[in-house]
Amino acid sequence: MKNKNPFITIEGGEGSGKTTQSLLLKKYLEQKGYSVVLTREPGGTVLSEYIRNIILDPKSNLTSEAELFLYEAARAQHVQEFIIPFLKKGTVVICDRFTDATVAYQGYARKLNISLINKLNSTASFGIKPTITIYLDINPLKGLNKAKYLNKEFYGLQGDRIERESLNFHEDVRKGYLEQAKKYPNRIKIVKTQNSPEQTYKLIKKIIDAIL
Ligand code: TMP
Repeated sequence: MKNKNPFITIEGGEGSGKTTQSLLLKKYLEQKGYSVVLTREPGGTVLSEYIRNIILDPKSNLTSEAELFLYEAARAQHVQEFIIPFLKKGTVVICDRFTDATVAYQGYARKLNISLINKLNSTASFGIKPTITIYLDINPLKGLNKAKYLNKEFYGLQGDRIERESLNFHEDVRKGYLEQAKKYPNRIKIVKTQNSPEQTYKLIKKIIDAIL
């Protein structure tokens, strides 16, 4: 057994299907006998979910720096209160977004200093690094349209504060992820989203099987 209880992160642009894939992966690992928790960033604890609501509320008039610190505050709480205790117990942790999202969104798209972001990421994550990261790659226009459609259909919403950013912003996010994947090819695996969630999942399963 290569990894007894990996810390798996799932990344991707808006509408890339992270949630569906995380659920499929959780089910698969549980069937294999692993104990698994699914969590997300920003979020995963009561405090971090409060912070999430502030960040994503279109009425929040946040500066880029304030936004960065809120993501990191939510992460610091989540890592200490939730992720580390579960990893210590031998549970597999699947996290919907983690530090790579901050590099892609606040670094590449908001244009904040990447070495500052790396320092804050490392402080807020207390030395915890993902065993493996799946980056779900989707055309930003397609993904955004899907995310906006789902929001409207299910919640009657116009999209959160980040989804409302321009196409250009979301293209920079994608560029950020792809560059990160190039920099850390052993950890970050690019999975192109396929025509159906099942087809995409097959690709993810192969990657995960290889690290178990
Ligand atoms: P989600 O809707 O995919 O759960 O993520 C919430 C939004 O927050 C999404 O638009 C990506 C963004 N985000 C950042 O900008 N920086 C971060 O560090 C994280 C974790 C998410």
